[in-house]
Amino acid sequence: MNSLLIAQNIRKNFTIKDNQGRAHLLKAVDGVSLDIAPGEIVGIVGESGCGKSTLGRTILRLYEPDSGTITWKGKNLNSFSREEMKALRKAMQMIFQDPFSSLNPRKKVKNIIAQPLLVHKADSPEETARRVEAVMKEVGLNPAYKRRYPHQFSGGQRQRIGIARALILEPELIVCDEAVSALDVSIQAQILNLILDLREKHGFATLFISHDLAVVEFIAERILVMYLGRIVEKASKTSLTENPLHPYTRALFEAFPSANPSRRLSKKHIVMGDVPSPLNPPSGCHFHPRCPLADEKCRQSSPPLSEVSPGHWAACWKSGV
Ligand SMILES: Nc1ncnc2c1ncn2[C@@H]1O[C@H](COP(=O)(O)OP(=O)(O)O)[C@@H](O)[C@H]1O
Ligand SMILES: [Mg+2]
Repeated sequence: MNSLLIAQNIRKNFTIKDNQGRAHLLKAVDGVSLDIAPGEIVGIVGESGCGKSTLGRTILRLYEPDSGTITWKGKNLNSFSREEMKALRKAMQMIFQDPFSSLNPRKKVKNIIAQPLLVHKADSPEETARRVEAVMKEVGLNPAYKRRYPHQFSGGQRQRIGIARALILEPELIVCDEAVSALDVSIQAQILNLILDLREKHGFATLFISHDLAVVEFIAERILVMYLGRIVEKASKTSLTENPLHPYTRALFEAFPSANPSRRLSKKHIVMGDVPSPLNPPSGCHFHPRCPLADEKCRQSSPPLSEVSPGHWAACWKSGV
């Protein structure tokens, strides 16, 4: 067993009040399990609103799960002491989609990047300055610009600032939530390559969350496909790319065509309507109203995530088709 993090059967609900004041349960994450090995890049993909960010935040314990367990290096997080929890906060970092809103506009870049060090009171001022300059160089920012403010940088550079801030504590796991989604495609590739280079050098594991399958396919080694709070398919990148089993995964490949023509699928298989509300999810398989293969069984009962071939899992009654 060589997992850095194991999440088992995680559930996270929100209570939403309607305009008559009635409370409704929204199952944002509805029984998700995943594991990440040290240094591994795991991708999570799915349309907006399917629970990816909630899952990422719950894994980092920014949200308390309603149920399920999270194990870090073999130890249940529930049994962590305060000291261990503090160390864990250093070991897990997050990079957000929007560097505009996640960077304080009134702070100089050097202070933004140093912030995690200050929170953890790690170093002397000289050592902090040295580490800030080193990490700026590593992410491709000129340390001469350390006194500038976020608005003086481009979108791609701002994302590099976010990466530097995450990197400075030498984390073992970085959760990237839509980290390149706000950037132009050419800049996206630069940032993705930067993350890959840094991973090579530092060996941190990454949970890479995106609605864009092409981006996840570029960076991840293993991919989990999420639909309305649940994992509907998981496989190695190669296996998922060459043989997507779930009709939803196939639809995503249609929506985000990759450079790989061998994987192009016939449009006739694909029916994409709107994502149903997680407040009122469809019966049975949540995907059935949009699925070209759905039959009565799919409308009535929810398919379990099962291993269709070694390491390739799908939650579909038709996945053998
Ligand atoms: N803090 C919150 N309070 C209430 N509902 C939320 C909250 N965060 C997310 N949701 C709802 O949970 C569902 C999943 O959201 P989210 O995790 O942000 O999805 P994704 O990141 O895949 O777009 C959505 O229906 C969203 O409206
Ligand atoms: Mg999100």
